Amino acid sequence: MFEGKASVTANMCMGPSAFLLRMRAPAVAREAEPGQFVLLRVSTTYDPLLRRPFSICRTVGDEVEILYKVVGRGTSLLSEARPGDELEVMGPLGRGFMPPQGTPLLVAGGMGVAPLAFWAGKLRDMGHEPEVLLGAATSGELFGRKLLEDAGARVEVATEDGSEGFAGTVTELLGRVLEPSHHVYACGPRGMLRKVVALTEEMEVPCQISVEEVMACGVGACMGCAVRAREGGYLLVCRDGPVFDGKKLVL
Ligand SMILES: Cc1cc2nc3c(=O)[nH]c(=O)nc-3n(C[C@H](O)[C@H](O)[C@H](O)COP(=O)(O)OP(=O)(O)OC[C@H]3O[C@@H](n4cnc5c(N)ncnc54)[C@H](O)[C@@H]3O)c2cc1C
Ligand code: FES
Repeated sequence: MFEGKASVTANMCMGPSAFLLRMRAPAVAREAEPGQFVLLRVSTTYDPLLRRPFSICRTVGDEVEILYKVVGRGTSLLSEARPGDELEVMGPLGRGFMPPQGTPLLVAGGMGVAPLAFWAGKLRDMGHEPEVLLGAATSGELFGRKLLEDAGARVEVATEDGSEGFAGTVTELLGRVLEPSHHVYACGPRGMLRKVVALTEEMEVPCQISVEEVMACGVGACMGCAVRAREGGYLLVCRDGPVFDGKKLVL
C-alpha cells in the first residue's frame, strides 16, 4: 500500500458535476485490483482534514483514474485540481471483486460505474464478455458509459424518465434479464443494492456488491465505516469490503 504524493495529470468534466481525475501514482497503478479504492486528500491543504474515498476506475500505465461526482465541499475542491497539482493519496485499499462462477452481469447505478469499469476491463482480459446494465435518472447522467465501452463491455442503459434505453430503473431492467447462469456484480445507491440483492437471492444467483460508507482512517482503525452483518455484529467497509457477498450485509 502506497502513501504519498500523486501528481494530477488531468481532471476532465464528464457531464453535470461529474469529473474524471487522472493522477500519476505508479505504485498504486501497479497494485490496484478492481473494486479497491484510494483515500485522497482533496486539496493541497489540510482543509478539509479527512481524506475522501474513491473507487479506482481505471489504471493506464503509471496513472490511476477516479470518476467522481461533486456532492459536497471535498469533491467541489477536488474539481478545482489542475494538472501539476500534487495530492496526497493512500492505496490501493480494501478488498476487490472475486472471479465469477457464472456469466458476469454488472449492474451500475450513478457513480457505481467507477469500480465496475475497472472490473469490466479485467473480466475482458480473463476471457469473459462482460455485460453491464447502467442506470441513471436521465440520459445526461449516464456517466462512464464510454469508460465501460472502452473496457470492452456491452452496455444496456436504463433511464427513469425514459429519455434513453429501457424506461425504468436499472433494477427493473435487471429483473427482466437476470438468468440462473449469471453472476451479478453491483455498485450504486443503497436502495438499488438492496433490490439487486433481493432479486439475486430469489433466483439463487451469486452477487457481489460494492458498498459506500462515510470513512475516516480507511484501514480498519476508527470503526467509522461499520455496516451491520446479517450474522450479527458489524463489518468494516474499508477493511472487510468495500466489495461484499450480497448475502452478508443488512442493507
Ligand atoms: C469505498 C468508496 C468508494 C467510493 N467511490 C466513489 C467514486 O468512485 N466516485 C464518487 O463520486 N464517489 C465515491 N464515493 C463517495 C465519495 O467518497 C463521497 O461522495 C465523498 O467523500 C463526498 O465528499 P464531499 O466532501 O464532497 O462531501 P461531504 O460534504 O462529505 O458530504 C456531502 C454529502 O455526501 C454524503 N456522503 C459523503 N461521503 C459519502 C460516502 N462515502 N458515501 C455516500 N455518501 C456520502 C454525505 O452524507 C452528504 O450528504 C466512494 C465512497 C466509498 C466509501
Ligand atoms: S474508515 Fe476507519 S475503520 Fe473504516
